[in-house]
Amino acid sequence: MKGVILAGGLGTRLRPLTNITNKHLLPVFDQPMIFYPLQTLISAGISEVMVVTGGGSAGDFLRLLGDGSQFGLKTLNYAYQVQEGGIAEAIGLTRTFVGGDKFVVILGDNILERSIRPYVEAFDAQPGGARILLKEVENPRDYGVAELKGSHVVSIVEKPDNPRSNFAVIGLYMYDGFAFDFIERLQPSTRGELEVTDLNNAYLERGLLCANILEGWWCDAGSSIDGLLQANIHAAELRRGQPR
Ligand code: DAU
Repeated sequence: MKGVILAGGLGTRLRPLTNITNKHLLPVFDQPMIFYPLQTLISAGISEVMVVTGGGSAGDFLRLLGDGSQFGLKTLNYAYQVQEGGIAEAIGLTRTFVGGDKFVVILGDNILERSIRPYVEAFDAQPGGARILLKEVENPRDYGVAELKGSHVVSIVEKPDNPRSNFAVIGLYMYDGFAFDFIERLQPSTRGELEVTDLNNAYLERGLLCANILEGWWCDAGSSIDGLLQANIHAAELRRGQPR
């Protein structure tokens, strides 16, 4: 299965840290932020990856990551997103790379404690459709929020004023090749973006969306300065527990 890391966007919530660089290049403990989602894909057995980025620092990703061989990748590809048109727009740019197969998308600012291999294997075993991961949070208004009936997702709302649960949809998504057809039919949201939540709802409406509750901690390091701080604290604990 191929993997996609989304590292575009303006990172406005982290200014002034992002005034002259892309947020995914900022340090999180002893590594650039993007190393974490890259390792998450690699630890799930993914060896063909595309990074989608944009803005003035796009060239720095090539200097940092090169052809991916330093991470043991078979191929590392890049796509350029001209404007901040949304997460679903960024996924749409990977169509030729993905080529109709199942694939895994991770947001470049999402850091996970544990391997995603069990979820990727579960997705591999399902006939098609999509799979998302949920995590209980204290501040659901900051995320896409899933309403559950038992273990089934019945709705997903992006950053709701009145969340119907505390289950955030984390930035790790698994799709089949129909994702690109759904993205083509999406309309921009009120903030002018093609929303990943609308893509997930396209699968949900057709009964094609599975979900797991994520084991282990998860941080959205790019959500705010506090999010970046929490990510640094968690990453320090994680990295200190591992041989360097
Ligand atoms: O972290 C999980 C949350 O991520 C989800 O719960 C939300 O449903 C989802 O919309 C997203 O919310 P954020 O507000 O955190 O999204 P943000 O704008 O920070 O973008 C997340 C990543 O996607 C970021 O690492 C950069 C990338 N991105 C974003 C946009 C808008 C792109 O590559 N291109 C884009 O146009």
